[in-house]
Amino acid sequence: MIKKKIEKALIKQINEELYSSYLYWSMSSYFESKNLPGFANWMKVQSEEEYLHARKFYNYLISAGGRVLLDGIKTPKTDWESVESVFKETLDHEIFITNCINDLVTLALEEKDHATNSFLQWFVDEQVEEVSTAEQILHEVKMVAGNSQGLFMLDREFKSRAGIIPDIAE
Ligand code: FEO
Repeated sequence: MIKKKIEKALIKQINEELYSSYLYWSMSSYFESKNLPGFANWMKVQSEEEYLHARKFYNYLISAGGRVLLDGIKTPKTDWESVESVFKETLDHEIFITNCINDLVTLALEEKDHATNSFLQWFVDEQVEEVSTAEQILHEVKMVAGNSQGLFMLDREFKSRAGIIPDIAE
């Protein structure tokens, strides 16, 4: 049976992942409003990935004998100054999530919960990729700053990111 302290920390992380999903969905909606369907698609897929991260924590907690009590998700920001500011916030958010995951690993080790530590290693690796991707896109967006043709090309490129969850409304 999982320790209450770990259970509480993992439930908090489910909330952080759901908030991440909500934040990226809000960013997707912002891009739709700016007529940037490629960026909107990229953020929608990112939002789906975050939902799956929340599910991964949920499934682990259930299998470890925990009880998941879901909490409210805070309201995401809805407006940004520019494409660049969206990706700057994405990078900052992924760094924040990396710190959350690192804190969870530290807690699992302190509590000698090796199963949870092992489970968390997937997220440790995933966060390296998440931060690196956000850095790369921010770099690309900065390179085309003030160049609408460049932004249009990037937007077209981001249209091709494949979705994870089938969109039944399409
Ligand atoms: Fe679930 Fe992008 O971290």
